Amino acid sequence: MTGTPAAAVNRLRPRRSCLAVPGSNPRFLEKAQGLPADQVFLDLEDACAPLLKEKARHTVVDALNNGDWSGKTTVVRVNDWTTHWTYRDVITVVEGAGPNLDCVMLPKVQDAQQVAALDLLLTQIERTMGFEVGRIGIEAQIENAKGLVNVDAIAAASPRLETIVFGPADFMASINMKSLVVGEQPPGYGADAYHYILMRILMAARAHDLQAIDGPYLQVRNPDGYREVARRSAALGFDGKWVLHPDQVALANEIFSPSQEDYDRAELILDAYDYCTSEAGGMKGSAMLGDEMIDEASRKMALVVAGKGRAAGM
Ligand code: GLV
Ligand code: MG
Repeated sequence: MTGTPAAAVNRLRPRRSCLAVPGSNPRFLEKAQGLPADQVFLDLEDACAPLLKEKARHTVVDALNNGDWSGKTTVVRVNDWTTHWTYRDVITVVEGAGPNLDCVMLPKVQDAQQVAALDLLLTQIERTMGFEVGRIGIEAQIENAKGLVNVDAIAAASPRLETIVFGPADFMASINMKSLVVGEQPPGYGADAYHYILMRILMAARAHDLQAIDGPYLQVRNPDGYREVARRSAALGFDGKWVLHPDQVALANEIFSPSQEDYDRAELILDAYDYCTSEAGGMKGSAMLGDEMIDEASRKMALVVAGKGRAAGM
């Protein structure tokens, strides 16, 4: 759709914990570098007061160029296309710090054209600056009904896309959900009010080989609440979740990694399947592992768990 050549980039980076840091706060930007989050996103959008946004662009450029972000995926969240800030956010940050930036996060995406517009702008900047064209990825946030209805087209809109990200706070507001606690169930419904939204995002992401990321949980002093909400999206297959506070980082890393028991079992299934399909094992299509029959589909499921565990260094 955009004509951007896909750069030879491994777009499946670890993103169990995606730490949000206000782009206007140099102290927080410094602190974030020492935290064990898989990804850090420097925010020019809602965590940044309108009067500070212009200055924050330069603070973010400085932090990307002079900070130590080794081992982390670096992302900047720009303002959405309905504001007047977006193009200058992108130009200032990418021209100033492109080589130290992995992705741009686009909030409140409503249709595929908004992703395509960002892709085109990135391509022009990369060409002008002599950067590798197509290297910088895009994360698309789904935060309103229009975005969700168009999520399949959004997920197909650019080879730069790496993730589809659920934005529960804006989403709840946009659909008039009756709760003020982000991530918590609205009283009176009696079932999981997020299931459809999460599944819709997950299907679109998986259909296009993208990662699916769950958004923030704002009760930062409630680890049990964080655990409960994070476990829901992790159980469905989401790859990670935002963290707004240092205390949430370890929780996300744990919840979005397989348990040691599941990881060990997955490796066992892979070994057993390899053996049964080999000549020595009789070239069979299935085998018994204890009381469980395993076959090619079991191998695929085990590969998902083992892959996550290996990425987490298990
Ligand atoms: C995140 O941006 C949200 O709105 O939840
Ligand atoms: Mg939002």
